[in-house]
Amino acid sequence: MKSQKIVILTGAGVSAESGIDTFRAAGGLWENHRVEDVATPEGFAKDPELVHRFYNLRRAALKTVKPNPAHYALAKLEAGLMEQGGQLTLVTQNVDDLHERGGAKEVIHMHGILTSMLCGTCEHRWEHLEDASPNLSCRKCYVTGTSRPDIVWFGEMPYAMHVIEERLAACDLFVSIGTSGAVYPAAGFVQLARSMGKATLELNLERSQGSNFFDETRLGPAGTLVPQWVDEVLS
Ligand code: APR
Repeated sequence: MKSQKIVILTGAGVSAESGIDTFRAAGGLWENHRVEDVATPEGFAKDPELVHRFYNLRRAALKTVKPNPAHYALAKLEAGLMEQGGQLTLVTQNVDDLHERGGAKEVIHMHGILTSMLCGTCEHRWEHLEDASPNLSCRKCYVTGTSRPDIVWFGEMPYAMHVIEERLAACDLFVSIGTSGAVYPAAGFVQLARSMGKATLELNLERSQGSNFFDETRLGPAGTLVPQWVDEVLS
């Protein structure tokens, strides 16, 4: 189908083969850390040092990982659809930068990104690739102590929801890749897409929580499934 508009939602599973831990697997991030301590505004207010340390480790780990075939394939899809007059909207829940490093030009990081800091005082954002601490000052208002990782924590509103909803309303196909479907609002995109009559496809290692809502599910590792599917779409 030419001029296709596709919205893709990715989750931790797309980066698993690059060596980044998923959240809900045995030994995953949330088995080893209390969400309340490291991924809520309350946790940050209580112990900013601990929260910075948690994200410093994740940020430093980015330097040791590389995009995998799934990231490269999605960048190829973006370019290929554009050539055919279509459009890819790539929405990720991931806070790594592997889609960009795999060549994707436009990525919506609905849960924020590790390489950015956010000033809790003036809301200025800036690229920050090194360790952060409570002593960090905002690059714009110079207030010290309120700079935080630019990550959407539990209880906060994900970024760019209006853009995502618009793109879902305008798309032909919604595809979910490597996400367990445990966290809303992202987990509800499939139902939203379905309610608007869109085709829906899931690519995941195992059935997600919302698997029954998809027209089609393909099970397997993203590094294999995604390049295969992209070749089908572009052929
Ligand atoms: N290929 C495809 N899927 C995989 C792979 C793989 N190689 N490895 C794991 N998966 C699947 C798992 O089967 C699981 O369904 O990826 C999914 C990962 O699920 P989660 O760990 O729950 O990660 P995610 O869905 O991205 O979490 C959503 O929850 O804690 C928050 O903010 C955090 O963005 C995150 C959100």
